[in-house]
Amino acid sequence: MPDEAESAHTSPVAIVGAGAVGTALARRLVMQGHPVQAVLSRNASSAQALADRVGASVSSDDVAALPSDVHLVLLCVPDDAIASVAERLAGKEHPWPQTIVGHTSGAHTAEILSPLADRGAATLSFHPLQTFAPETPPEVFEDIFVGIEGDAKGVAAGKALAKALGARPVELTPQSKALYHCAAALASNGLVALMAVVEEIFAEADVEESAAELVGPLVRQTWNNLEASSPEGVLTGPVARGDRATVEAHLDALTDTAPHLVPLYAALSTEMARTSVRGGQLDSASAEKLLRVLRKRLPSSSDNADSTGPSH
Ligand SMILES: NC(=O)c1ccc[n+]([C@@H]2O[C@H](COP(=O)([O-])OP(=O)(O)OC[C@H]3O[C@@H](n4cnc5c(N)ncnc54)[C@H](OP(=O)(O)O)[C@@H]3O)[C@@H](O)[C@H]2O)c1
Repeated sequence: MPDEAESAHTSPVAIVGAGAVGTALARRLVMQGHPVQAVLSRNASSAQALADRVGASVSSDDVAALPSDVHLVLLCVPDDAIASVAERLAGKEHPWPQTIVGHTSGAHTAEILSPLADRGAATLSFHPLQTFAPETPPEVFEDIFVGIEGDAKGVAAGKALAKALGARPVELTPQSKALYHCAAALASNGLVALMAVVEEIFAEADVEESAAELVGPLVRQTWNNLEASSPEGVLTGPVARGDRATVEAHLDALTDTAPHLVPLYAALSTEMARTSVRGGQLDSASAEKLLRVLRKRLPSSSDNADSTGPSH
């Protein structure tokens, strides 16, 4: 007989929040053979639309409509709505000691579900390490990692659920969650912001082609290299070569046309120098000379306090 945590992912599920994550998760569950019995959301129409899509028999704009035979509840609501939804759910009569409740936030820990834990529910945070837009296909769960932390029963159920989705669980502690989420945000959102900067600099250089077209092959090949090796093993370019004249030329050009980007260039180049030293490409003396060049161009922190660059 499977234990409760193991069997929770095979019993009917309720999805709360019919947005980007809730939709992909509900569709993936059904695709993998796990029924979604209820969709609860802020608006009745979005709850109904997702319920129709995944064949859920219950939909409502009130989380208190949670059916009593649902023992796995996944909150896919915005981060700032999790606490109030948890409070509202906890006020409802439900077999909480037989129920597992998770949320999909990367930023919050399971602690935010404490009103439900107080009622006897097992709780966890279940954060898919993926980016979701409204119509992201459910197949994006295949082989991704899911960051999981919570109480023992919640974690066991989360691991089983991740595997049922075709994903891989990675266990976190409440203390590690903020750093884990910081790294994930830099990998996804940081890359997007960097590409926006690249686009801006190409525009300053009067290059008309789109940045995505221009650097697509470069970025893809860099990613291929990274998959085959490590950052230390694949870094190329002027910083890795200790080419101070080229770095100074970049800084001059940026200072003339987009000075708000000089701190970003300096910060990234500093990390490139550290990576090159670790990889044995750059000796410490050359790295130190390069870092002096970079530091010289940084405005003092007080000069820079309000510098957000152009608003376009
Ligand atoms: N998007 C990502 O890339 C991503 C990745 C990993 C984790 N996450 C996390 O997943 C969670 C959901 O993010 P999302 O991007 O899916 O957000 P989203 O697209 O904005 O969807 C959130 C849904 O929650 C519903 N909702 C809002 N307040 C509610 C309330 N008080 N009660 C019930 N339902 C409520 C909304 O319903 P209505 O449509 O009915 O108004 C909305 O459809 C967040 O914790 C986020 O941090 C997001």
